[in-house]
Amino acid sequence: EQIKKGNYDHFMQKEIYEQPESLRTTLRGRLIPGDESKVKGVLLGGLKAHLRTIRRSRRILFIGCGTSFHAALATRPLVEELSEVPVTMEIASDFLDRRAPIYREDTAVFVSQSGETADTLQALEYAKSHGALCVGITNTVGSAISRGTDCGVHINAGCEIGVASTKAYTSQIAVMTMLALAIGEDAISTRARREAIIDGLLDLPGVVKEVLKLDEKMKELAATLMEEQSLLLFGRGYNYATALEGALKVKELALMHSEGILAGEMKHGPLALVDETLPIIVIATRDSTCSKQQSVIQQLQARKGRLIVMCAKGDAAIMCPNGASYVIEVPHIQDCLQPIINIIPLQLLAYHLTVLRGFNVDQPRNLAKSVTTE
Ligand code: G6P
Repeated sequence: EQIKKGNYDHFMQKEIYEQPESLRTTLRGRLIPGDESKVKGVLLGGLKAHLRTIRRSRRILFIGCGTSFHAALATRPLVEELSEVPVTMEIASDFLDRRAPIYREDTAVFVSQSGETADTLQALEYAKSHGALCVGITNTVGSAISRGTDCGVHINAGCEIGVASTKAYTSQIAVMTMLALAIGEDAISTRARREAIIDGLLDLPGVVKEVLKLDEKMKELAATLMEEQSLLLFGRGYNYATALEGALKVKELALMHSEGILAGEMKHGPLALVDETLPIIVIATRDSTCSKQQSVIQQLQARKGRLIVMCAKGDAAIMCPNGASYVIEVPHIQDCLQPIINIIPLQLLAYHLTVLRGFNVDQPRNLAKSVTTE
């Protein structure tokens, strides 16, 4: 086992550090950088024959559990923007509990690292029996979900051993970003936008390498939080998913209560919790919701909140002019790719919190890597 971990203490740590490489493998052969003869674009072999049907669907459903659900949530805004098809989010168990309506004109996208999660698999059977086009996004060639779907894309992140998903999450977002690009590829109006995203994807492994340099800072931050009972994370837009996923990592690994909150809902409850002691991470990197996050920060500061602000490099003075208890400055990339960058310091934070609190990093109590029973 130690040989497989290489120079790392834990598989999770190794998998966090593998992300520049796992993302490179995910993207390999799928990006067309473009030249005089070829238009910049993406190539997803497993979807080609079905793209027209997906584009014409009346609705796209994203279905998954846990971290896979969060990865889908992170890409929902881009899929809606580039496809102009409404995207609805479904946690597999809830979708089944409701026996939710689904039709032949729908495309259902099943997201699962293992490709074996019982609820996701049952949701697939249900969607198939109602005639929807079923697309699989998995990390496991030959898995039940990749066999059972009509078409799909493998994320090629490599084997993930840590129970808490890290590199599969970032690769899932990368693949679903390419899915959005592929669905939207015939629209002239979004061409410049799509090309900028492809440039961003080409840069991605390098930017991930850069954000990993925050490791020591995250360890420092973890030391200041290790005795806390609770940690809140506020996000919105592309990074609502980052808040949920960051909180999931902290709770499942460090066994600390943590909640990801949609910042737009702040005044509908969470604001009551704010005081000088409760630590709150506010994700406020650059995108169209940035000024709204700026005002969230101001309102939290007015209530003397203990803020940890995540913003783009160089933005600290603008985003939190009155200072914060801690600032995490991350490299900037295209808005829709920012969740891939932003989750990495939070993965590192959860990792260090877990080590400092003395819990099992790779196998959190009561949890399994693949949940194959209901
Ligand atoms: C378990 C794992 C998570 C994972 C979830 C969904 O809870 O611990 O890391 O996100 O299952 O698994 P899947 O294989 O379907 O992505």
